[in-house]
Amino acid sequence: MLAENDQCLNDIVSSLMQLKSGRYESEDILAFNRCEAYRKSLLNNHTLISYEVFGQNKSMQVSEICRQATSKSIWAQFLYLITKKNQSPYFLEVGTNLGVSGSYILEALKSKSDSNFITMEGLSQLCQIANEQFFKISSSQKYTIIEGLYATTFPELFRKKINFNILFIDGNHRKDATLKYFNNLKSHLKLPAVLIFDDINWSDEMKQVWKIIKSDSDVSYSIDMFKLGVIIINKKTNKFKAKHYYLHLAY
Ligand SMILES: C[S@@+](CC[C@H](N)C(=O)[O-])C[C@H]1O[C@@H](n2cnc3c(N)ncnc32)[C@H](O)[C@@H]1O
Repeated sequence: MLAENDQCLNDIVSSLMQLKSGRYESEDILAFNRCEAYRKSLLNNHTLISYEVFGQNKSMQVSEICRQATSKSIWAQFLYLITKKNQSPYFLEVGTNLGVSGSYILEALKSKSDSNFITMEGLSQLCQIANEQFFKISSSQKYTIIEGLYATTFPELFRKKINFNILFIDGNHRKDATLKYFNNLKSHLKLPAVLIFDDINWSDEMKQVWKIIKSDSDVSYSIDMFKLGVIIINKKTNKFKAKHYYLHLAY
């Protein structure tokens, strides 16, 4: 992979090597500790969150949502590391939830003047909780939480004409929705761009989605990390055959 001499590919490999070795700078460890302290506070938060916006007559405690839906620390650290290695990250996250992954991303953006973080979430109560946490990490100019259902907020986002170079697609894990986001997002990229899809083996639908996405003609490289699927799009017109890699942390 390193022989490809591709900066994004190198950043992914070196982030994974760092995750495997656990060798971090002290500022990284402090950032991880702050994010995990936030997670701990969520696990003790029993506020009820209503899912009415999704047409569901249910509510769940923050603690339960935190246990079920937030990225585990290892994957959140991966997001932190690749964001930190990027000189000017313009990060889009689809799926804010309680802002756990977002906290890691914002921590990585702290030292970067040319950077931005936009994250999208349908549940208003979650947006409020995430916003309180984000504001503790960063000034509000650095991030935007776009609240609302994606059917409405994606068109709004695209009208802003912002291009992104790191994307974490962790919202609605349905086949049609994920493919639709991918196809639309392709025209809002700042190349080279790294797109990270969560839970590519979570369901048959997501397995199919990952197969379709990594075979897309615009893709230069794909990296199957079993939990996450990462693609790199590095040219407007990709004349070369894409290369596909498997990098599983347990090896
Ligand atoms: C898996 S969680 C995101 C976890 C977060 N990225 C993290 O790692 O901490 C997915 C989030 O997407 C939101 N979501 C799912 N479908 C949505 C939709 N159609 N419109 C808006 N938000 C949606 C859910 O409310 C949920 O909070």
